[in-house]
Amino acid sequence: MSSSDLVELAKRRGYFFQSAGAYGGVSGFYTYGPQGATLKDNIEDSWRDRFQRREGHREIDAPTVMPEPVFEASGHLDTFDDMLVECPECGASHRADHLVEDNTDIEEAESISIPDIEDLIADHDLQCPSCGAALGGEPVEEFNLMFETNIGPGSSSPGYLRPETAQGIFVEFPQLAEYARNQLPFGITQIGKAYRNEISPRKSIVRVREFTQAELEHFIDPTEDEPDIDRVADVELPLYPAEKQEEEDGTEYVHKTVQEAVDEGLVHEWVAYYLGVGKQWYESIGVDMDRFRFRQHLSGELAHYAADCWDAEAEVGAARSAAEDSSGDEPRDGGDWIEITGYAYRSDYDLSKHDEYSDDDFTVFKQYDEPKVVERATVDPDMSYLGPEFGGAAGDIADALEELAERDRAAFEDDEITVEVDGEEYTLPAEKTGFSVEEQKETGEHVMPHVVEPSIGIDRVIYTVLDHAYETDEVEDETRSYLALEPGVAPTFVGVFPLVSKDGMDDRAREIADDLRAEGLDVTYDDSGSIGRRYRRQDEVGTPFCVTVDDETAETVTLRERDSTEQVRVPIDDLPEVLADLREGEVTFAELDAPKAEQ
Ligand code: GLY
Repeated sequence: MSSSDLVELAKRRGYFFQSAGAYGGVSGFYTYGPQGATLKDNIEDSWRDRFQRREGHREIDAPTVMPEPVFEASGHLDTFDDMLVECPECGASHRADHLVEDNTDIEEAESISIPDIEDLIADHDLQCPSCGAALGGEPVEEFNLMFETNIGPGSSSPGYLRPETAQGIFVEFPQLAEYARNQLPFGITQIGKAYRNEISPRKSIVRVREFTQAELEHFIDPTEDEPDIDRVADVELPLYPAEKQEEEDGTEYVHKTVQEAVDEGLVHEWVAYYLGVGKQWYESIGVDMDRFRFRQHLSGELAHYAADCWDAEAEVGAARSAAEDSSGDEPRDGGDWIEITGYAYRSDYDLSKHDEYSDDDFTVFKQYDEPKVVERATVDPDMSYLGPEFGGAAGDIADALEELAERDRAAFEDDEITVEVDGEEYTLPAEKTGFSVEEQKETGEHVMPHVVEPSIGIDRVIYTVLDHAYETDEVEDETRSYLALEPGVAPTFVGVFPLVSKDGMDDRAREIADDLRAEGLDVTYDDSGSIGRRYRRQDEVGTPFCVTVDDETAETVTLRERDSTEQVRVPIDDLPEVLADLREGEVTFAELDAPKAEQ
């Protein structure tokens, strides 16, 4: 479905729309309507189930505003930038790498340097999309994407809206490690809003300024923790490695199982594990696996914290070719690939930085099974010599000697020892250093954990699920469009209708609707228009099942499935159980007794 058709459908059917429309709307901010908010809840719940509950991880809920030192440490203040070019005529701001991608064959222009982007803009005579003025020769600048605010009155305490939920987890690591009793590995999740002041928001909820992230930070000991690959070993991964992208006709994917990808060294084992978990999840919520791939970041594209990263990408906006039949077996014309998740190996980047910049300890103390006896080189400088000899520098010289003993004990074999303090060299006799090597018993060591991070953009997943769910077919000689949403995430699970709004059928239908709601199902009641019209309304919004009461005294009702439009009669007493089984995937509609064509 084209992007404009999706946006139109989303608005008309209460999925999402630009917010504050009454005031002209604000670019990059969207409101989820009654259908969209529930679809979002359902997708978030299923993410919690797959990435958190089934993996044994725990969730936290940290603030969205954080003080400046957090982002000095994390590197976001210095490096979280996009390339900005401003039009000299109309003053419109544009993302320079996107201009290059939109007007040339170049993909992933984000990985190109600023001087090269400036050259590309000039060489291709690129123009301002707003007014058509030439942009060649205009400077391209780095623009920091964080929204700044002040914490409390005045400007003495700057803060920022978090650009990723992850930092809320990293800064709390000392408390979280204590909660985990200092046992690695452990995983912490967080789901919530994050903010980026995008230069040019676009594609409705795909590139927005306020969005929802679902992130997992899995803390591991890199020297000994291994993922339980067996749990996902056979999951097939469509991989698009960096080296394939760099080939002349770089469109070939490599299809490997998780196990093969690890054995062949294509993907880091922890990242591969989560690619397997992710693939199972996307499939379960209705992402079309024919329009899906895992793409490795090119080296110039990696975020400042990432040692390696693979994006889950979905192709959206692919138009159906004229030749395509309603079975959906024919290929679609190409759409755009969008990132829906980043799977990054962040190494110890974040924890080391917070360890360095804050007052807390971001390591984990790993206890040995048995204490170890180790040799330690130490010094005990003769301060009655150092003081008179070196005056105010004596203390720093003692510290430098201690550091030298740890680093290079052989240096103490000479008669004289030289250390450097603040660029100046100081020499003293070896016997004044009190150097010795002693045996010490150690019970454990401090480990700086590494981090593996699946970071999911929930809004982009929603966009993909809607785009991939859109189908058309012919029903009773009319073209029907419907959203084939998975029953587990569809915002309305069942529509309940009286065939006509009289003879007690409406009362009976309302009773059934109430009973189904009491069972925890999302139900809509509709008695307006012809029954065919009501079915089409629910089809378009993606409701998987409809129940029609066609006789006030009957003990059965008609249960109709959206995708096949087939119908079956079900005893009213069995309805809650049958629907619950359909929702959980315990039974398929085709397995119910003798479905018939829609009447
Ligand atoms: N935490 C990864 C990201 O926000 O891109």
